[in-house]
Amino acid sequence: MRVERVGVIGAGLMGSGIAQVAAYHGCDVTLVDVDEVRVAKAIEGIRGRLAREAERGRISPESAEAAAERLHGAADIDDLRSVARVEAVIEAVVEDLDVKTRLFRRLGEVCRPDALLASNTSSLPLSDLAAASGRPERVIGLHFFNPPWALKLVEIVSTASTTEETLEDALQFCRQLDRVTVQVKDTPGFIANRLLVPFIFDAIELLQTGVASAEDIDLACRVGLNHAMGPLATADLIGLDTLKAIAESMFEEYGEPRFKAPTLLRRLVSLGHLGRKTGRGFFRYS
Ligand code: NAI
Repeated sequence: MRVERVGVIGAGLMGSGIAQVAAYHGCDVTLVDVDEVRVAKAIEGIRGRLAREAERGRISPESAEAAAERLHGAADIDDLRSVARVEAVIEAVVEDLDVKTRLFRRLGEVCRPDALLASNTSSLPLSDLAAASGRPERVIGLHFFNPPWALKLVEIVSTASTTEETLEDALQFCRQLDRVTVQVKDTPGFIANRLLVPFIFDAIELLQTGVASAEDIDLACRVGLNHAMGPLATADLIGLDTLKAIAESMFEEYGEPRFKAPTLLRRLVSLGHLGRKTGRGFFRYS
């Protein structure tokens, strides 16, 4: 199955990045969110990033322009008729099971019968979303990494109902988007976040117990462990609200203290310091 048209639901950090990747690789993309302003802002952001990539010589100006033209917006998140004819949907709304369940129920009603229905969830049970859709055999997890235009990995997540054909279609779609894939069963955190989240939480513990400064914790990991980014800067990049939501569902599922969100993380979220997206998290951003 070659995907010509993609619906991306959720125009936040991940949705807008995934929309950029799909448009750049030749898909006609409909990007959907709760209101017109948010959608327009996301599309403007993607166009800006594509233009900057072209200026830096990483992509050609023609391909940047062509990708920008393939992006369309819609604000019908409840109705979703704007994605009724697409071959593949990727859901990337907030990490909230009720919100995602409602959405998959509606996708099941409105999408064409052969559409691939994918979620970008990091930690919520994909099987619940599959059941809600009424067509669990076509539901799959496509877990992109942040930022999607720079990090090529996609974790492909299957439930007990995902068919071989759906998995094949998902693999083909990821090849079309020039992604590197790994396959994993429906478990909270899959591979990468299951390893990463406890690591970030240990870094937060070091900070909140005064063992070392945020700068030094990250410096130790970058220079001593050769990590591209420190754990606290990574948390800020993920978004502290998203990280907290991911931790909550992992803790609920596994019941292990290592997945429990540290106090400092919860406090920062309460104060609205969500990381890069609000200009302040463990670090400050201008
Ligand atoms: P975000 O907060 O940047 O964007 C979420 C979007 O969902 C917003 O644009 C918001 O308007 C929209 N939305 C739609 N319906 C909504 C409703 N009823 N209530 C509230 N918001 C609603 O979040 P982000 O980071 O893009 O995460 C989206 C999904 O991607 C989550 O499932 C998350 O677990 C997953 N993910 C996040 C990564 C990260 O590093 N932030 C990495 C990989 C996956």
